[in-house]
Amino acid sequence: MPPPLPLKFVSSATSYTDLPPSRAEVAMVGRSNVGKSSLINALANRKQLAHVSNTPGRTQLLNIFEQPNGPTVVDLPGYGYAKVPHALHDTWQAMIEDYLLERESLQLVCILIDGEIGPTKLDIGMLEWARNYELPIQIVATKHDKVGGSRIGHRKEELAAKCGVEMSDVCWVSSEKGTGIDDLRMILHRVGK
Ligand code: GTP
Ligand code: MG
Repeated sequence: MPPPLPLKFVSSATSYTDLPPSRAEVAMVGRSNVGKSSLINALANRKQLAHVSNTPGRTQLLNIFEQPNGPTVVDLPGYGYAKVPHALHDTWQAMIEDYLLERESLQLVCILIDGEIGPTKLDIGMLEWARNYELPIQIVATKHDKVGGSRIGHRKEELAAKCGVEMSDVCWVSSEKGTGIDDLRMILHRVGK
């Protein structure tokens, strides 16, 4: 069993140009409220390392978490939060896109999809955008615990098909119950090795 990731919060930034240097980096990307911050807490087995909230749009900066012998993890603001004014929305979008395209140490982009809801239009758009730029991606389906027992098999097939990947390409997790967290720790462990 892989141990919890010894992640430590280092800083927040509004631009990738303000980030501390890193050797290897993993980004958590996804719709607002999909569970990015909760996942970082689960990976570290800590409750309040990253801010979790019922209010979408809680994470508004690039939040950097370092560990001694593994990749830096970056918690990004969620996309698709309708209540943000347009001008601000565009600024967020640019912040995320610039980071994803310009950060040299970025080695893996975890694209989180809500397992209960399935990929939305925005998620598919994000996937296509990432593929278009040939970013290395890992699809992570969140909130496994919210999908009822009898529906899970069908939901796994459906989610993978909609994302255009094999079922085995999707890492299903529950930050609440701990499902799949070991698998994702293993995936992150290999980054930069
Ligand atoms: P933003 O910072 O707004 O982009 O959101 P986020 O993607 O960081 O989501 P966050 O981790 O703050 O979680 C949003 C909500 O989903 C919170 O109420 C969490 O408790 C809940 N949540 C996250 N992961 C899980 C999970 O695995 N299971 C269940 N049942 N709820 C979850
Ligand atoms: Mg967050």
